[in-house]
Order: sequence, then C-alpha cells, then structure tokens
Amino acid sequence: MKVASEIIVRPARSVRGSIQLPGDKSISHRYGMLAGIAAGPSRIENYSTGADCASTLACMRELGVSWERKNDNVIEVQGLGLSLSAPSRPLDCGNSGSTMRMLSGIVAGQNFTSEMIGDESLSRRPMERVIKPLSAMGAQIESQQGNPPLRITGSKLKPIDYKMPVASAQVKSCLLFAGLFADGETRVEETIRTRDHGEVALRTFGAKLERKAVSSGNEVRIRGGQRLRGIEARVPGDLSSAAFFLCAAALFPESELTVPNLLMNPTRARLLDILMQMGLRISVTQLDEIHGELVGSLQVAGGKLKGTTIAGADSAALIDEIPVLAAIAPFTEQGIEIRDAKELRVKESDRIASVATNLRLMGAQVDEREDGLRIPGNQSLYGADIESYSDHRIAMAFAIAALRAEGETQIRGAEAAAISYPAFFETLDGLAKR
Ligand code: S3P
Repeated sequence: MKVASEIIVRPARSVRGSIQLPGDKSISHRYGMLAGIAAGPSRIENYSTGADCASTLACMRELGVSWERKNDNVIEVQGLGLSLSAPSRPLDCGNSGSTMRMLSGIVAGQNFTSEMIGDESLSRRPMERVIKPLSAMGAQIESQQGNPPLRITGSKLKPIDYKMPVASAQVKSCLLFAGLFADGETRVEETIRTRDHGEVALRTFGAKLERKAVSSGNEVRIRGGQRLRGIEARVPGDLSSAAFFLCAAALFPESELTVPNLLMNPTRARLLDILMQMGLRISVTQLDEIHGELVGSLQVAGGKLKGTTIAGADSAALIDEIPVLAAIAPFTEQGIEIRDAKELRVKESDRIASVATNLRLMGAQVDEREDGLRIPGNQSLYGADIESYSDHRIAMAFAIAALRAEGETQIRGAEAAAISYPAFFETLDGLAKR
C-alpha cells in the first residue's frame, strides 16, 4: 500500500470501531531473522506489513534464505540453519535500526564479510552499542566513527559477559543472537528492563536460555551451538501501532474502540496502565498466551483526560509511545512531563525536537529539555503544516493531535507511516467520526 506524501487530517468528534492491527514490528523482525537460521521451514502469520520488517526479510534473502509472502501477510521461510551464505551485495537495512542492530549479531557469527547499509536517517544512528560488545566477542567491525555503513567480518565467536550501558532491547537481542554462535555461555545483564521478545522468540524456536532477576536488574544466559527449529506462529497485533488509536480514543469522551488480537506482553504494556491512569477506560475481554507472548482483546472508551509524568524505567518502557503521548498532552488537564528519555534524540528523527517543533507550529507552549519535554495542559491546537521529519511515529502522532485541533492539519512526509503501518491513514479515516 502506498501512502501519499502529503495528507490532510480534519478534526473529529470521536473515534469508534474495531481495529485490525498489523503484526508487531519487534516480534516480526525477530521471527524473520530466527526463521532464517532455524533448521527447516517456518510459517509466520500476520507478519508486519511495515517497510522495516520487509527490510529484514530482504537482508535474509541476500544471506541465502529463501522465503515467500503468501496472501494475508503469511510468510513461509526455508531456514538454512546457523550457517548463512555470503551476500553478493550490501545488506540494505533501509530505515530500520532494529534490522541493522539485531542482524549484526547473526552476521558476526558467519565465516564471511557482510556490509550493512541504511538510508540517510539510519546512517546517522549510533551503532557503537553493538560494535563494542560484538568486537569483544571476536567480530571485526569497521564503521564511520560508530555510524553505518558497517562492514562486519564474522568468525567463531567468544562468549561475553556483558552489562548493557544503554537500555536497549535491540542490543540485548543482538548479543543473545550472537551468543548462539559463541563457544560457551553468553550472559547479558540489563539494569532497566527492556522488551523481552528476543528471549521469548529464541525459546519459541527451541533454544534454551536462563533468565533471572539479579540485584542490579535482569540477566539472560544462552549457550552457543544450539540448533533452532522452524515454527508455525501468528504475530500478535502491534501495541505501538495501537497506541495511536488508543490515544485518539482518549481525546474524546464518546470514543469506543474494540481492539482484538493485541500484543500485551508486560514489557510492552505499560502504555495501557498510563492511559488508564489518565482516564481512558480499558477492559480486557480476552487473554491468551501464544508462543510465550500475551495476546488480548480490549474494549476501550473515552473519558476525561488527566496529565501524567513519565520518567525513569517508564521512559524506556514507553520509548516508542512517547511521541503520541506528547502529541495529546495539550489536551490533558495537567499536561505531561517526560524525563530520562534522551534516547528519543537518536531515533528515526530527534523525536524530542520533532515533537516540540510540531506542537509549537500547532500553537502549543512546550518546554524542550535535553532528556525530555514538559507540555502544559489545557491548551488548544490549531491546524498547521507539520513535517514528519521522515519519521513514521512523528507522522502518525501528529495525525492524532490533528483530530482535536481547530482547522485542518497538513502532514508533509506522511509516507513515512509505511515504515511500520502502511494502512494507518486509511484505518484512521474509517475510525474518526466527524
Ligand atoms: C525495539 C527496541 C527499541 C524501540 C524500537 C524497537 C526492539 O529500540 O525503540 O522501535 O524491537 O527491540 P532500542 O532497543 O534502541 O531502545
């Protein structure tokens, strides 16, 4: 589905209906990569429709893995086992930091050299966080002073005992994947809990790993040389994509949404607690565990919108949802304060600056800080020409703010939404009641 590059969003009175979400982006990347290094075939239903997860599959094909996309976003992958084939061209990760960071853990264990490239935004993003530990494991990595492109010469790896200096699930998954190619046990420790889809997916593909809480946080241990087996699985609906519609619902007391098949993994679901504290009414009508991931159905109704503060571990847990929470902050009673979120500055765009600039263009008062934002409540927004900065979450966040602005909002660079959610604007149009 192609998204127009400029989209006009008109104000709405409520959002109502049922949402079919694309498969979760974080899980789709991991399933796509692990299916490629599993022995035998995998069949994955509801694989993310986003361009980022397509970048992962394109890189896997370049590494010799064959796969096919069937109808209804089902992909069938013929896994090669742990040994992939040398690519004949650079692995193009597009806009996807997840692809570059996690796949680097797999190519670091191969007996060939891979070059990993990305678009302009990805080429500015920090890769030192994977280069340092993977180099300590024995991979040879060249970069542009810590930025892409990366040239990774793999080898048989040494295990590592690594305490992560940045809270990053991508780095954790990268090192656990690399741990499969190491001679012995790799241990990764995190002081702030990050999403655990890498750990859950490795177990689904048959790997054994140990997880436990330690005094300083959590640790995961994995032994090298384990063979993975193919799976048949369905990817739950993406909670970070649902976030846009949940925040839209929160803007109007008359909103009513049904959200079936939603990922509710506790390391991702903090948004639901926060939105409930802010006044959104959410009831869980069904809850199942599928391949280690919690999946539920929600019934959602609007209410009065209170403000909140997001700081500490919450900032890591809500990192992808902060742009849309910030975009609805002017409509809360007390406003929203975001602290400890400087990672936002190195996402697909500098999300602190992108949010502050766009909110100001819409007439809001915003206090921008190095590690966050303070956005007072009880403010009105006015339709404006806003810029996505080629960042999918910024394009979508401001489409939501536009629903309660006075007048029309033009979103430039709206096509960025296709990175994670090609059907976003169409779905929004169907739900927004005017
Ligand atoms: C992701 C982790 C987060 C998140 C990204 C997806 C993942 O990034 O922002 O959208 O799938 O592990 P970091 O690991 O850089 O925090």
